[in-house]
Amino acid sequence: MMMNDKIAVIGAGMMGSAIIKSLLKGGYRGQITAVDIQLQKLEALEKLGVKTCSDNQNAVNNADIVFIIVKPGDVEKVLKEINMEVKGKLVISVAATVPLAYLCKHAPDAKIVRIMPNLGAMVQAAYTAYCCETNITLEEKQKIQTLLNMMGTCDEVDEKYMDAITAVSGSGPGYMSIIIEALTYAGLKAGLPRNIALKSAAQAVLGTAKLVLDLNEEPAKIKDMTTTPGGTTIEAIYQIEQSQIRPAMIRAIEEATKKSAQIREKLNLT
Ligand SMILES: NC(=O)c1ccc[n+]([C@@H]2O[C@H](COP(=O)([O-])OP(=O)(O)OC[C@H]3O[C@@H](n4cnc5c(N)ncnc54)[C@H](OP(=O)(O)O)[C@@H]3O)[C@@H](O)[C@H]2O)c1
Repeated sequence: MMMNDKIAVIGAGMMGSAIIKSLLKGGYRGQITAVDIQLQKLEALEKLGVKTCSDNQNAVNNADIVFIIVKPGDVEKVLKEINMEVKGKLVISVAATVPLAYLCKHAPDAKIVRIMPNLGAMVQAAYTAYCCETNITLEEKQKIQTLLNMMGTCDEVDEKYMDAITAVSGSGPGYMSIIIEALTYAGLKAGLPRNIALKSAAQAVLGTAKLVLDLNEEPAKIKDMTTTPGGTTIEAIYQIEQSQIRPAMIRAIEEATKKSAQIREKLNLT
């Protein structure tokens, strides 16, 4: 689907700029206008041909699709500002923890979608889950999918899964960085040059993810494929299995999932 809708992005921070850059790299042909309180964040985007603006209402007035990419606690203020201008327009909220019902309460005439991408958007390798208000049409869903596929890959999910998805994949690059860092340290300990240690560790993680996704295989199968009897991999796996890494990961994601609900409660986002 060719798209040339005008997009306004409110909040050009870490995730806002990642999404804009990924749409540009993905070949988005429509005009993109970025707004942020922090004007210095807009300068880098201007160099990429993005229109910038310091007024949310103005940006939304000139747009067909509006991304809201500010912190959860700033969403209400933004919606109050643009409430009239978003009438009948697609509003895509990227804010973690903020439910569709809350977004609809503050912008009842907009067509609201809630998404949870991750930083992979910077390199067009995001996983994005999205959920929609009931008034979103099939054609609008196709538009959303086209946009999200420019950033990586996406799935529509029931809203009840959003907290867990935030914990698994929204924050995922944070945990995977620890794994890559640990592998790199291991390489350094074994005497590898620093650049080789880092590159081999990161590429091993990338390659494993591609094997799971492209071959549609269970991770256990990939693990078996690397494990020859009496070999080096099984020696390492024997050590890893004594380290409680699986329960540590499960506990971490369980706590991160709960944290979404706690933030929602604390900020009164219902
Ligand atoms: N970072 C991630 O990996 C990630 C992943 C998934 C989802 N998200 C979600 O994306 C949202 C943004 O996260 P982020 O990490 O990109 O945060 P961020 O770097 O702080 O970006 C948000 C930007 O929006 C600006 N802003 C605040 N209020 C505004 C307003 N009224 N009008 C225009 N701009 C405004 C902020 O300025 P100030 O700094 O002055 O407030 C900041 O520059 C959050 O809701 C987060 O849950 C982030």
